[in-house]
Amino acid sequence: MSSQIIEKIKDIKAKKNACILAHYYEEGEIQDIADHVGDSLYLAQVGQKSESPLILLAGVVFMAESVKILNPNKKVVVPTLEAGCSLVKESPYEAYLKWRLEHPQGIAVTYINSSAEVKAISDVIVTSSNAAKIIESIPKDRPILFGPDQNLGRYLSQKLNRPMILWPGACEVHVLFSSKKLFELTQEHPEAVVIAHPECDPSVLQYAHVIGSTSRLLEEVQKNPAKKFIIATETGILHQMKKSRPDVELIQAPTEGSCGCNNCPFMKLNTLENLLYALENEAPEIKLQPNLAQQAAISLERMMAITAGKPVSWPDHFQPWRETSTP
Ligand code: 13P
Ligand code: SF4
Repeated sequence: MSSQIIEKIKDIKAKKNACILAHYYEEGEIQDIADHVGDSLYLAQVGQKSESPLILLAGVVFMAESVKILNPNKKVVVPTLEAGCSLVKESPYEAYLKWRLEHPQGIAVTYINSSAEVKAISDVIVTSSNAAKIIESIPKDRPILFGPDQNLGRYLSQKLNRPMILWPGACEVHVLFSSKKLFELTQEHPEAVVIAHPECDPSVLQYAHVIGSTSRLLEEVQKNPAKKFIIATETGILHQMKKSRPDVELIQAPTEGSCGCNNCPFMKLNTLENLLYALENEAPEIKLQPNLAQQAAISLERMMAITAGKPVSWPDHFQPWRETSTP
């Protein structure tokens, strides 16, 4: 059954000259039919440059929105618009705007896991791949507001020795790893290399030998000669790790209880079936108000420029781009 769907997807993709982008947290069968698989930065970069008239992003909606904002003339579709993110939910526009207005001199450094509305009131977007480089490019005398992921913000603040005002959001998946059980696991497997995504709680990160984005963690497994790894991030990444290092033992970091909840419920809403539907029907499509998209493009393009080593300028203070009722 799934082989028939895969054949159909390949056929329609070729006929429409469509491009499929998939995040590492997708099921292996989705990663395997994608033209490009990567972390959130890589997907934004590939999506921005794509010449295909139709881009299908199998990941979560903020990733597809970022591609649409950076490449507005292309049609961007997703398997389901229900694939959200807890960080987006925990950073509603009105509250984020109020926070920004309370710190008008601050530079708002916003994680790409945010809505287009929040990006439009941010100065620069970051992913866990490029956040350190971007923060280091901000003048030292400017206060930094970092949101919506407080764990990533706290980790960066300590690593870079840079104070930051943190938004109190967190990823509902990465906070579920148990530091106590992880400690016990490291005692059982003292030779294992512990790798973790920076969205994990600091109590978990303290045991990690390597902390980084999904692509950084994959790279570690590919390059480190060790034979055993403990992985504190979403399970989808194991697909590429197993493919590139069939010789190593990959142990998933334990979560609280026995819920097996290191699966992102949003990423896993994408299936071969709804992916095929999206390609056939070119829907659901990512549609954004043009002025919102143009405004959100400013912070995303500043991220792209700094990542590429280009100089950028920073606004002197925050000015909302549209009328606001927030005092
Ligand atoms: P990456 O940028 O590392 O791919 O992370 C995205 C994400 O949503 C992690 O939960
Ligand atoms: Fe959002 Fe967490 Fe899922 Fe990543 S793993 S998309 S941060 S809910």
